[in-house]
Amino acid sequence: MEKKFFIRTFGCQMNEYDSEKIADIMTATGDTPSASIEDADIVVFNTCSVREKAQEKLFSDLGRMRPLKEKNPNLMIGVGGCVASQEGEAIIKRVPYVDVVFGPQTLHRLPQLLRARESSGRAQVDITFPEIEKFDHLPATSNDAATAFVSVMEGCSKYCSFCVVPYTRGEEVSRPLDSVLTEIIQLAENGCREVTLLGQNVNAYRVTTDGVLVDFADLLAAVSEVPGIERVRFTTSHPVEFSQRLIDAYAYLPKLPDYLHLPVQSGSDQILARMKRGYTTLEYKSIIRRLRQVRPQMLISSDFIIGFPGESDADFDKTMQLVAQIKFDFSFSFIYSQRPGTPAASFADDTPTAVKKERLTQLQQVLEANGKQYSEAMVGNIEEVLVTGHAKRGKHMLQGRSANTRVVNFAADEKWIGKIVPLSITEATPHSLRGEIVDSAY
Ligand code: SAM
Ligand code: F3S
Repeated sequence: MEKKFFIRTFGCQMNEYDSEKIADIMTATGDTPSASIEDADIVVFNTCSVREKAQEKLFSDLGRMRPLKEKNPNLMIGVGGCVASQEGEAIIKRVPYVDVVFGPQTLHRLPQLLRARESSGRAQVDITFPEIEKFDHLPATSNDAATAFVSVMEGCSKYCSFCVVPYTRGEEVSRPLDSVLTEIIQLAENGCREVTLLGQNVNAYRVTTDGVLVDFADLLAAVSEVPGIERVRFTTSHPVEFSQRLIDAYAYLPKLPDYLHLPVQSGSDQILARMKRGYTTLEYKSIIRRLRQVRPQMLISSDFIIGFPGESDADFDKTMQLVAQIKFDFSFSFIYSQRPGTPAASFADDTPTAVKKERLTQLQQVLEANGKQYSEAMVGNIEEVLVTGHAKRGKHMLQGRSANTRVVNFAADEKWIGKIVPLSITEATPHSLRGEIVDSAY
């Protein structure tokens, strides 16, 4: 019998992508999406454990499922993603009315797990890492948007001392080239114009195809060749393995935008070493300097962790110095969150929370000011904007994204949705831009 499913997603773009795939799998088995959690027969939580708060949010949401389950004992509750991977059986012990627990690498087995739950009457747990099997079992993509995520590798082998990802998603495994390209060709046929290649460290991508080694620079070149694809983004790359070949790709691949998200985490070499990041600030700056030689307008955004165990005022000052030197764009910054099972969990941490919060505010103020300045400097420019749909507000207003990720609102006919159009930027507001279609576009 056809069932209605509802998926709640926490965390990163990887999880958003995985949720799309879960929806494709459920649809392929005859189920349909439900508009609300209350009407669903199957509710799936795709979880994140990178920081404690995201993890706790899952358990409070699961608590709220109890009355729904009591009202409808046939309701199936599934928990996937990184909390599932880390906690496994413990989730069922803590919340006995959860039916199925699956990991990021076993999401394609969800229909079997649900069936096994029904026939056996017992909760099912599968959090194994069956290599890249997942991609062989996914149905064709149903995505018909102008922009789409495409996973190119899974897992992470960097083992930063603060991070759970290598334990929850397994080690780095690259997806076969033909599998990546098949998905992108299909997306382009469905109308997609921009892809974002996804992975924890996409620049560690490495496969052998017909005896030839293909690295990330080669992958970018291959994706750029797909007819219909006009913009190729990726996230996240890592400063280690950001090779000269990859920097050179920016010179000969015009579909790569003038925008890069490259997590640095800290501007202090001592902290970077204790984080086990594998680079120094000098090495990081050298990558950016060489990139900007090729692309002078390149905007750099980043991830920062504030209040890592032992971060002194002097360490934090070094982070602020680096921010001034690189002049980072809008970025992500969070206070360090101790994660069980990671090496940093046993590091002594004597910085008071109030000091960490004060540092975070200081950093965020500078990053916001930089972002606004970059946006203001775009006023008067002609920018290529990928039109993604209707604007949130305003009749006859459309919305799109510039190559450097700014949201641009403009008045125009719906026929532009899904296309890249040149817009003249007329105004910068705190988190978006306004533009007008230039006459030559018509
Ligand atoms: N692969 C990426 C890189 O090059 O670092 C990062 C992926 S990680 C899942 C995303 C971000 O979460 C990190 O860049 C880091 O800033 C943040 N993060 C990871 N563990 C954290 C922790 N224990 N506390 C606070 N932030 C954390
Ligand atoms: Fe985490 Fe470091 Fe990998 S932040 S995802 S272990 S690069």
